[in-house]
Amino acid sequence: MSHLSLNDLFAHDAKRAERFVLEAGPLFLDYSRHIATDDTFALLRALAKQQNIEAWREKMFRGERINASEDRAVLHAALRDRTQKSLLVQGIDVMPGIRATLAKMRSFCDGVRSGAHVGASGQRISDVLCIGIGGSDLGPRLVCGALKRAGTVGPQVHFVSNLDQDDFNRAVARLNGASTLVLISSKSFSTEETLSNGQLARDWLSASLGEKRALQHLFAITARPDAAREFGIAADNCFTLWDWVGGRFSLWSAIGLPIALSCGMDSFDSLLDGAHEMDQHFISAPLEKNMPVTIALLGLWYRNFWHFSTHAVVAYAHALGALPAYLQQLEMESNGKSVDRNGEAVDYATAPVLWGGVGTDAQHSFFQWLHQGTDTAPLDLIGVTNTPGISTTGRYALLAHYFAQSAGLALGTAADKTPKDPTHARSTALRACAGQFGGARPSSALVLRELDAYNLGALIALYEHKVFVQGVLWNVNSFDQWGVELGKSLASQWRTRLSSSADANDTPLLRRLRHP
Ligand code: F6P
Repeated sequence: MSHLSLNDLFAHDAKRAERFVLEAGPLFLDYSRHIATDDTFALLRALAKQQNIEAWREKMFRGERINASEDRAVLHAALRDRTQKSLLVQGIDVMPGIRATLAKMRSFCDGVRSGAHVGASGQRISDVLCIGIGGSDLGPRLVCGALKRAGTVGPQVHFVSNLDQDDFNRAVARLNGASTLVLISSKSFSTEETLSNGQLARDWLSASLGEKRALQHLFAITARPDAAREFGIAADNCFTLWDWVGGRFSLWSAIGLPIALSCGMDSFDSLLDGAHEMDQHFISAPLEKNMPVTIALLGLWYRNFWHFSTHAVVAYAHALGALPAYLQQLEMESNGKSVDRNGEAVDYATAPVLWGGVGTDAQHSFFQWLHQGTDTAPLDLIGVTNTPGISTTGRYALLAHYFAQSAGLALGTAADKTPKDPTHARSTALRACAGQFGGARPSSALVLRELDAYNLGALIALYEHKVFVQGVLWNVNSFDQWGVELGKSLASQWRTRLSSSADANDTPLLRRLRHP
């Protein structure tokens, strides 16, 4: 395919832009600007069949323990199952527990948002400090950032994740303990960053409310309620999730409580509804009409056949600023693997580096690289057709850039034929060279009707299923993350070393770190 340009593909296939489109729930995808033909897609789908994608999909939805290295089922889709069906995991129906947690979330959120649930000294709750990291932080942070609009009801949510205490200090600088609730979100309730920030929060609350009353402001979201209770959190203040919810797939569980507090439980329900519609599409659409399968196959096409090592996502929606960070964990923690499901080393590339930003800001930074750099990064360009508070003129201005970038990257331009200016002959000639755009830089155009909870739920579920499909194609377990463990255990050794007294074996770096 490397001799073909996108210009050729469009020239030889006038209906390409009409044929290479898909709809899934509220989402629309134009994938015509890829260096791929009908034959390419047929071959890629054959590969998906060969890897038994449909059978794996069924295993996941049925609750089989497909996360083999942790011996767990993978059931985040059950969290947003809006049917009345039951789902047995080892003989136990998980659906009643899910519904009970949603009911508990609703009653808590309604209480806080209406002012019925007040702080220990009777003050209305104005702020919620959300402590968590990775999957216990990035999803709620993304959704709250995307959906919360100025002037809407509900407490302000603030996120703290970093072990660097500066993160915590900055977050609480303008908060009042008496009107702030603290949510400690940790599936394992053993993560160093979260427990350390949780302790800081407890001390901070105690300083203004006293130790006993501080506990009324502390809540936990965890699969280890025993550990939360040991920390001092009352059983009633605990929201639970289950071991079959992976951290980076957990925003649909009680980990999404910051979303429900900030935007309301109805919005949270709508987020689940949108994701559920994407689940239904993923389960039932044939491979050639299946959006998650299509974007997963395109990712594999560029990673394993073109050897492109990165993939970028640029949303033309300022409110989706946190999307690249969210997708980095989702894709890179899931499929950044070099052993397959059988424990054998793979001899092919797996997940690319995922990166991105928001348009139009990104156009003034890394788009130079995208258009003219020596590497190619396939792109997902995300557009939104309707955003509350934006005039039609403003909308068209933004969407014009959205459309223009995708066209420019794909098709490039002919060489600049500007007539030579004899007084600046050299710079004019150089400009003509530097101003050439080769095109052939592929992108998908994904369109949301609106940036609301429903559309966002569908978008996030789309990427989750893309990750699942790619994991099946690469034959890796997308649901474990052993690669993060080494750093954790080394850090604990180095903490001991840093806090012990200096010795002759200290390196200059260690001496420098110990004594600033
Ligand atoms: O560091 C990896 C990780 O285990 C992620 O997978 C997870 O999302 C994050 O840490 C937080 O874990 P927990 O919710 O158990 O605190």
